[in-house]
Amino acid sequence: MKDNTAVISEINGLLGSKTRKAYVRSFGCQLNVSDGEKIQGLLKKMGYSFTEDEQEADLIILNTCAVRENAEDRVFGIVGSMKKLKELKPSLMIGIAGCMTAQSHVAEKIKKSYPQVDFVVGTSALSALPRLILDTLKGAPFEADITEYDDFSEAAEQVRSSSFKASVPIMFGCNNFCTYCIVPYVRGRERSRRPVDIVAEVRQLVNDGYKEIMLLGQNVNSYGKDLGGEMSFPQLLRELNGIEGDFWIRFMSSHPKDASRELIDAIFECEKVAKHLHLPVQSGSTEVLARMNRRYTVEDYLTIVENIRSRDPDFSLTTDLIVGFPDETDEDFHATLDIVKKVKYDNIYSFIYSKRSGTKAAEMPDRTSEEEKGRRMRELLEVQREISTEHYKRFIGRNMRVLVDDVSKKKSGWLTGKSSEFIIVEFEGDSSLIGQFVDVEITGSMNWAVTGKITEGNTDK
Ligand code: SAM
Ligand code: SF4
Ligand code: F3S
Repeated sequence: MKDNTAVISEINGLLGSKTRKAYVRSFGCQLNVSDGEKIQGLLKKMGYSFTEDEQEADLIILNTCAVRENAEDRVFGIVGSMKKLKELKPSLMIGIAGCMTAQSHVAEKIKKSYPQVDFVVGTSALSALPRLILDTLKGAPFEADITEYDDFSEAAEQVRSSSFKASVPIMFGCNNFCTYCIVPYVRGRERSRRPVDIVAEVRQLVNDGYKEIMLLGQNVNSYGKDLGGEMSFPQLLRELNGIEGDFWIRFMSSHPKDASRELIDAIFECEKVAKHLHLPVQSGSTEVLARMNRRYTVEDYLTIVENIRSRDPDFSLTTDLIVGFPDETDEDFHATLDIVKKVKYDNIYSFIYSKRSGTKAAEMPDRTSEEEKGRRMRELLEVQREISTEHYKRFIGRNMRVLVDDVSKKKSGWLTGKSSEFIIVEFEGDSSLIGQFVDVEITGSMNWAVTGKITEGNTDK
């Protein structure tokens, strides 16, 4: 990583003992949230503390997502509304980071239409942030640095938002070029972190008391392919499983084309690996999957599911689905409903297709109306609601180990957490249990969660 010591000390010299507050907001996936925590790590070195209230901030950084149009529109709306803030406080600095900045037309639009923005910092240029802040403090005009320094993946300090759940990126970028997706264009090619660095980071986190480690990558199953065979993802899981301590390992996302038998073996054989798999299918039509360049058929996907369910018929699966991919027919959509009914997911994350300029799908004819896409989405959600309602009943009478997340927003005196299966569990309990594992006997179910009571004497408090 770039040595920023001199720049940071110049900033500290300029600002002296003045208090300085930063508001950092991340959009999009957990990899981007993790970048946001690294941005905060850098800002902390520059003497910044953090606020959730943009009104009291001296520096605002919006860490953006480009995956769908509505994510971009939201950011433009927020940046627009910041014009007022800047008028009230001219010393306020505003910076834009994240995936939107990697699209040249977006950087141009920001420069042209949003004079309240002081700088743009690209996803591979985070280490340039101190210099951009220093230049702004010295009165430099708008600057954009979207150079691919690509030197931020190691040794970056993070300000972690949780004291018991930590995400650990194991790789960056994506090589898959699904035809609808902007990520490979804005995040570049796959780069895996070295296993020794990942193991050291996880060991440190466990020593610091973290109870859940979420390994992140756009396709964790291709982890290590660029490391010359040093280590595959299932091997990494086994290595991390060997670290002493009471903690869970989760990971996302897993591309079905690379979900191997070794991966499934590792999930079942490693006691610390959570018993849940997020396996994005995107569509239930092999025809649509081919046009999406997903490189598996519905049959291939169902073979993986069968392999898992033959070992544990109740195994928890979740997925991502796109509704209204260009020229998706009614028949294609019904094939998606069929796979959802067949697999019985515990949860689905479904999105209406959003055209991303520069991707292959953006060039495909699309004759389905937005109204029809909306109708399909509502039907899909209704089908899944019925499935979850029925499917969650299988947990009644079971004991589930739960990591307590927070107090419940639904019921006072209750807590909310997630089981190893990634199911929301709600139960009565004291807030001192937040961040701890508890055993809960499940007594009821809804379509979004199960409810229960803590088993006596079984908490790790
Ligand atoms: N790499 C992950 C994978 O392949 O499963 C997904 C990452 S992407 C950030 C998360 C989800 O966003 C995808 O699984 C897909 O369902 C959805 N998505 C991506 N591009 C989209 C688009 N143009 N329109 C709608 N949904 C999209
Ligand atoms: Fe996008 Fe496909 Fe890469 Fe996932 S695997 S980030 S959907 S291109
Ligand atoms: Fe969005 Fe970038 Fe993630 S486009 S989903 S923030 S990798």
